[in-house]
Amino acid sequence: MKQKLKEMARSFLVPLLYRYPPTCLAPERLYLYFHYLIECKEIPGDIVEIGCAMGGTAAIARNMTRHLDINKRYLCYDTFDGFVEQQFSSDVGLGTPAQDRHMFSGSSRDLVAKILKRHKAEDVTLIQGDITTIPDSTLPESCSVVLLDVDLAEPTYQALKRFWPRLAPGGVILVDDCPESTSWKARVGYRRFCQEMGLAEQYRHGMGILTGVATH
Ligand SMILES: C[S@@+](CC[C@H](N)C(=O)[O-])C[C@H]1O[C@@H](n2cnc3c(N)ncnc32)[C@H](O)[C@@H]1O
Repeated sequence: MKQKLKEMARSFLVPLLYRYPPTCLAPERLYLYFHYLIECKEIPGDIVEIGCAMGGTAAIARNMTRHLDINKRYLCYDTFDGFVEQQFSSDVGLGTPAQDRHMFSGSSRDLVAKILKRHKAEDVTLIQGDITTIPDSTLPESCSVVLLDVDLAEPTYQALKRFWPRLAPGGVILVDDCPESTSWKARVGYRRFCQEMGLAEQYRHGMGILTGVATH
């Protein structure tokens, strides 16, 4: 009940609280993501953001792609209620502070849709679910740029397994939160995937990068 009331209040206050798009990406990573969105203009396939939080990055990105005539679908996946218990506890075992458990809890698909509408990005598609178990039927056939931003080791690894085969040749997957020293364990999932697939690990501005090749 208390949660519901909080959600209603936030929804009502969208024009005030979310006057500016609420992005969680560090500026240098936001730059890198936008750089690849532009560079991959001619690569066919959807733009995908896995872990979109309040939709701030999606809102800015969608406005930019519209200005640049990049006419691709923009798909966002999220639980819209923060971390999955088991995935988070497993990372606490690797050193993630337990106090971060509810960092992204208490959002909702409706609230994010309102924020996107407020920022003229209502054509972004929001898909709710755990990226490790969401049905294959909700996944795109082909993607050109994927921002993978779920912070934790297991969903990062599982999402890479699901999206790598869908990445168009020349397309790019960017994994956020991959610097050597951070309490988030996305790098553990990225590294595990690269090792299993025999792919070189490549890092820029704290993001792990994978580039699509014709043979995968
Ligand atoms: C750091 S935030 C994303 C920030 C967003 N990309 C931005 O730039 O503003 C991490 C998001 O990942 C989502 N998330 C975490 N685990 C997930 C999972 N297993 N499946 C789907 N979403 C998940 C959380 O709900 C949270 O909204």
